[in-house]
Formats: sequence, structure tokens, C-alpha cells
Amino acid sequence: MFVAGGSGSASIVEDLAKEVGGVVADVETRRFPDGEAYVRVREAVEGEPVAAVETPVPDAGLVELLLLEDALARRGADPLHVGLPYLPYARQDKVFEPGEALSAAVVAEVLGRRADGVVAVDPHEEAVLDRFPCPATAASAVPEIAAAVDDGAVDVVLAPDEGARPRARDAADLLEARHDHLVKERVGADDVRMEPRDLDVDGLGVLVLDDIVSTGGTMSQAVATLREQGAARVVAACTHGLFVDDALARLEEAGCDRVLATDSLPNPVDDVPVAPALARGLSALDG
Ligand code: R5P
Repeated sequence: MFVAGGSGSASIVEDLAKEVGGVVADVETRRFPDGEAYVRVREAVEGEPVAAVETPVPDAGLVELLLLEDALARRGADPLHVGLPYLPYARQDKVFEPGEALSAAVVAEVLGRRADGVVAVDPHEEAVLDRFPCPATAASAVPEIAAAVDDGAVDVVLAPDEGARPRARDAADLLEARHDHLVKERVGADDVRMEPRDLDVDGLGVLVLDDIVSTGGTMSQAVATLREQGAARVVAACTHGLFVDDALARLEEAGCDRVLATDSLPNPVDDVPVAPALARGLSALDG
């Protein structure tokens, strides 16, 4: 198998090639003076299975991945699978207000148009997979996140909301910890508390696990409340660390002892590799 990457995914591509025993394809990517992307696959891949991998971070990476898929399809890659370390636009998965674009559907449609199969690591909601015009599967980075925090000091894994509870449960099973989800309680016009539904965290080591940390608002509210409730240690982890603006500082101020994320997006705490999840997803597509 060849693994072909765009300009933002070199280390993931190398990791993935090792995971699947594949070869990194020779791909040229550059920008024209006006900023437009140029992609050329310099490898003969006709009739060969190829995984195209790029984090389509809005929006330059998205265009680059679309060009990479087109170039690979024209080169005869067969099958052509697309590995998405991060699936952007997935949170706009409904028309919340009349007149809005259904962004998740648009992005899935174009990303899947040339592909024989797609793997998305921890998509915001798995329902988005139905939007792809080809087989699409989710792959979880929870095993690698759990391994990275497994120091024997995690007593409880908490999901920020009920929808994220299965991910917390999977991590808790691996860490031999308990799990719960947080419920939001408004305690003033501008103040929201996020408390565990059932568990008392007083004196415990807590891992809060979310799919995305963007502004850090959700996670910092959770961490601050858990600290108030006497948690002895709070680790914040996510698959996709967007960490917009001062998000990491907000988490630290809220009382996080440690923050970690996968390398699905470049960030200062991207120590957890996403390639093993992509490899499992590719294998599921083949199966
Ligand atoms: C929301 O449903 C997601 O799972 C995350 O909780 C959310 O995207 C985090 O965003 P922020 O860091 O801006 O609060």
C-alpha cells in the first residue's frame, strides 16, 4: 500500500506507512504565487491501493486534499482510501437557523467524491459518516489517549456531555477507572457549572475526555467545577486540539494539571499519535 500525504501531514503519513507496512508515495505540493495549491503525484500507483492522508484544516488543507485525491484517482490508485485525521465542519451538521449551509454534508460530499472509502478519526458525530457518497468508517484514538495518560492515577473518566459518554466509557475500561458524564447547570446569567451526573470526585484523579477542544470554553468550565468539587488532579484530553487563541492558557488557569491531544492537528500538546487509529480504520475498510 502507498500512503500519500499533503503538506500538513508528513509525520502522520510516515507513522501510518510504518503502521501498515506501506510506502510513502512521492507527492509534490506547493503554492502558486497567488496562494493556489498545486499537487502532483510523482509515483506510479496504477492499480495499487493508496491511502490519501491530510488534515483538511480549514481551508487550505481541504483544497489540497481534494487535489491530492483527484491526482491519485487520475494516476489509477485502486482502491483509493482517504484517511482524515480530523474531519472539519462536522459540528455544523444541522441547519440550526433557516438559510444556513449544511456544512458537514457539503464537506463529506466533496471529500468522498473520488474515494472508494473514508476513515475519519473520532468525528464529532458518527452520523456524519452517512453523508459520504462512499463507505465511511470512524476510528477511535481512545486507546492511544488512554495509554498516554495511564499512570495509575486516573480514578474517573468524565465526558463533557451525555453524547460523548461512550468515548469516556471506552477510556475508563482501558484505564480500569469509573466513568460518568457532566451535566450543565446555569448558576447565573453568565455562569455555567458542569458537574458529574452521579459521581463524587472529591479527592480523585479525573480525566476529562472530549472529541474537540476549540476555544477551551467547555473544557475549562468542566475543569473549574471539578476543582471546586475537590478533584485531586484533573487531566484534560481530546482527540482534536484546535486550541484557538488562548485556549491552552484558559485550561491552565481553570486548574488543569495536564492537557494532551493527538497529532490530528498541529498543537503544542500533540503527543498522542493518530496513525494507529487510521491504520485500524483502513483495515476495517478492507475487511
Ligand atoms: C461539542 O459538542 C464538542 O464536543 C466540544 O465540546 C466543543 O466543540 C468544544 O468547543 P470549545 O472548546 O469551544 O468549548
